[in-house]
Amino acid sequence: PTIRLQDYRPSDHLIDTVDLDIRLDRQASRMTAVLAVRPNPAGVPIAPLVLDGDELTLLSLRLDGEPLPAEAYTATPSGLTLHAPPQRPFRLTLETQVDPTANTKLMGLYRSSGVYCTQCEADGFRRITYFLDRPDILSVYTTRIEASRDEAPVLLGNGNPVETGEVPGTDRHYAIWQDPHPKPAYLFAIVGGRLGHVGRSFTTSEGRAVALGVYVEPGKEARAEYALDAVARSMAWDELVFGRAYDLDVFNVVAVSDFNMGAMENKGLNIFNDKYVLASPETATDADYANIEAIIAHEYFHNWSGNRVTCRDWFQLCLKEGLTVFRDQEFSSDMRSRAVHRIGEVRTLRARQFPEDAGPLAHPVRPKQYAEINNFYTATVYEKGAEIVRMLKALIGDSAFRKGMDRYFSDNDGTAATVEDFLQAFATETGRDLAHFAQWYERPGTPRIAVSGHYDATAKTYRLNIRQTRPGAGADAPPLVIPVALGLVGPDGPLDVTHERLRDGVFVLDEAEDGLTFENIAAPPVPSLFRDFSAPVRVEIALSDAERLTLLRHDTDAFNRWESAQRVALRIVIEGARSGSETLDGAAGLADALAAFVDQEALRDPAFAALMLALPSEGEVAGEIGANIDPDAIFSARRRLRQGIAARLRDRLVSVRDRLAEPAGASFSPDAASAGRRAFRNAALDLIAVADPEHGATLAREQIASATTMTDRLAGLATLSLIPGEAREAELAAFAALYTAEPLVLDKWFAIQAAIPEDDTIARIGRLQRHPAFSMTNPNRVRSLIGVFSLANPTQFNRPDGAGYALVAETVLALDKRNPQIAARLLTAFGSWRQLEPVRRVAAEGALRGIAGAGGLSRDVVDIAGRSLAG
Ligand code: ARG
Ligand code: ZN
Repeated sequence: PTIRLQDYRPSDHLIDTVDLDIRLDRQASRMTAVLAVRPNPAGVPIAPLVLDGDELTLLSLRLDGEPLPAEAYTATPSGLTLHAPPQRPFRLTLETQVDPTANTKLMGLYRSSGVYCTQCEADGFRRITYFLDRPDILSVYTTRIEASRDEAPVLLGNGNPVETGEVPGTDRHYAIWQDPHPKPAYLFAIVGGRLGHVGRSFTTSEGRAVALGVYVEPGKEARAEYALDAVARSMAWDELVFGRAYDLDVFNVVAVSDFNMGAMENKGLNIFNDKYVLASPETATDADYANIEAIIAHEYFHNWSGNRVTCRDWFQLCLKEGLTVFRDQEFSSDMRSRAVHRIGEVRTLRARQFPEDAGPLAHPVRPKQYAEINNFYTATVYEKGAEIVRMLKALIGDSAFRKGMDRYFSDNDGTAATVEDFLQAFATETGRDLAHFAQWYERPGTPRIAVSGHYDATAKTYRLNIRQTRPGAGADAPPLVIPVALGLVGPDGPLDVTHERLRDGVFVLDEAEDGLTFENIAAPPVPSLFRDFSAPVRVEIALSDAERLTLLRHDTDAFNRWESAQRVALRIVIEGARSGSETLDGAAGLADALAAFVDQEALRDPAFAALMLALPSEGEVAGEIGANIDPDAIFSARRRLRQGIAARLRDRLVSVRDRLAEPAGASFSPDAASAGRRAFRNAALDLIAVADPEHGATLAREQIASATTMTDRLAGLATLSLIPGEAREAELAAFAALYTAEPLVLDKWFAIQAAIPEDDTIARIGRLQRHPAFSMTNPNRVRSLIGVFSLANPTQFNRPDGAGYALVAETVLALDKRNPQIAARLLTAFGSWRQLEPVRRVAAEGALRGIAGAGGLSRDVVDIAGRSLAG
């Protein structure tokens, strides 16, 4: 059943209030829901009331307190229809029963390590009670939660706590929560369990005292402090930067260990994958701290971009997700190094969104149709969605952007909005017509921008021609509005250029082809294009390595300094993969430039320098090549380049690594500067090991032995994991023995081994699947072992004998019976199969067809398999 944007129609009924009474029980939880229903003035007058359900058991049904005759309604596990509801407001009382222990889909009400919790986005509320489970139905909820006091001493709901008490004559107690803000059902949540917590108070700019709490497994309270601090910093930042204050008396975050996604922004009660809450220096890496900060912020920011202003329908998902990713990116940039964070954002986009946009699963940021909405929580909706907001800001300027955001929030507060409503706020504020810009939401595919530069030595002019195309789009496809932040760099440094078509350094390309000519240019310049990655595009321009390395040396734009070295590396690896030749043309020049860079800047900005040393990933190289891909050829060309660079840089890396060593006795801090020093040291360690594996192994083992942070211990292990031998196996075993009781740490251990690019890895994964810490029922475990294998081990996943595809395909089929969302997500690893060379292409297609042909598949997996094969 395909659902289409063009078929949107308001609901024929509205539900103003929901009163829920939830009696938690391991196998038979019972819900009584009282729904205040009324006909929608904007709907069809005489219409049946069709409520959604999913695997529900109806126990009883009353209308205005009276039982209904059997012929008045039809109830199945997947729906409840009242054939002729009253043409006036009425009260529907529904009693349903669900089994949270048997709920392995982790949607609706389920138990995770004994804790009752819920996940309702996108369509999980219908697994709790029958409802109009669509985001444009906004209701005020009151929730009474009852449970055994022993099993669930903590009972949390949306909104503000209003009452707690005992259930006389039983071992049970209850809590009542009231959420005054109308919300869609996907934001509903409850939690019940034995949980420890940390808390503090935050006073908003409006003078409201808010009790903040982070709830975790008892005994892990200390590991929740960083998340709690991140909540407070997020609240302060959203007031300062977006003028958004919090609107309830409590804000709670709960960590659970079985969770399909990263986290969920339920009103006043965010529920998190514990991986994105728990942190201690001994168990969490710097990357974990950064992710926790970013995801805490993301979910908190949803309180306005998503909750106060929600989505009319699921086609508008980017309205809340793209915007909220943009907001969390800005937050992290303010908390850390903006340039370093921006490079990280672009790496994520290129690693995940570009391949998606180039393959059969490509879709517009606002999809036009879907069969299973949970398959559209994609890098395109999230990450490209965020880039569209960023482009809008670049086009209209900072202050107009802020005014437009204020207007968007005030004009749409308490409503379910659309992308059009979002753009209208900025159009009204600036007086600009944004209809053309809106095409970004409609068109899939990464635009290609072809640029050519012409220097006229006599006229002293420099002409830039810029042309846009979109792969797969016809020649008559409308051009997009593309902000091109640009500048020119001369042989000795940046040029101070002005042009009537440049506003704040941004040239707007809104035709298929355009250009601009600069006057008074004394010598041939190098163009610095798409500064700070001003648009999510691929850029093609014929520049020599020497010209690109001029940008590395002299550009004022940090992103393009990094990018220029990346482009040179990409060219070298692509040519090396094509020719298979031992010598790589240009490798020495790149190594020299990186050596000079390290000398000048590694001590000053180690985080940036660490990124400079990281070559484009094998996946990124594959994406650039685009067709007839041989992952082994890419791997070996990339390794040769790394060896060349490592040999050239080795001595200075050893010395800088020592100079950046943690001062003895220094206490741990997860701040960006400390993390940046660790990042450089560990990037250096990895390269030293490439130049000299024996020395590298010794250094890695020393580092593992002396590490005071998980970042350093894990980096030592990761370096060692690429050096086959006794030492590697011994350290892997020792690490596992040290962390038997720490599943989140063992996830890192699974991931390191899943990524080893050796023939033995499939057998190793087989052994790890039988490890006591592994579990097919926990999404984090599956992602760490099988997910990492499919995404971060291109040579082994794409083995020509098909064993890698078979491993992932088997896992998808096994998983689909329990948890279709996770199975479908894993299956997306096959998305680029058509771009492979013929032998692998046939093997990958065979694995995909094997899945598609299996019986009893979920809609989730059928959808991904079908689109992967069709595209
Ligand atoms: N809204 C959540 C976020 O913060 C994602 C939840 C998605 N869940 C799902 N089952 N599709 O991004
Ligand atoms: Zn989100």
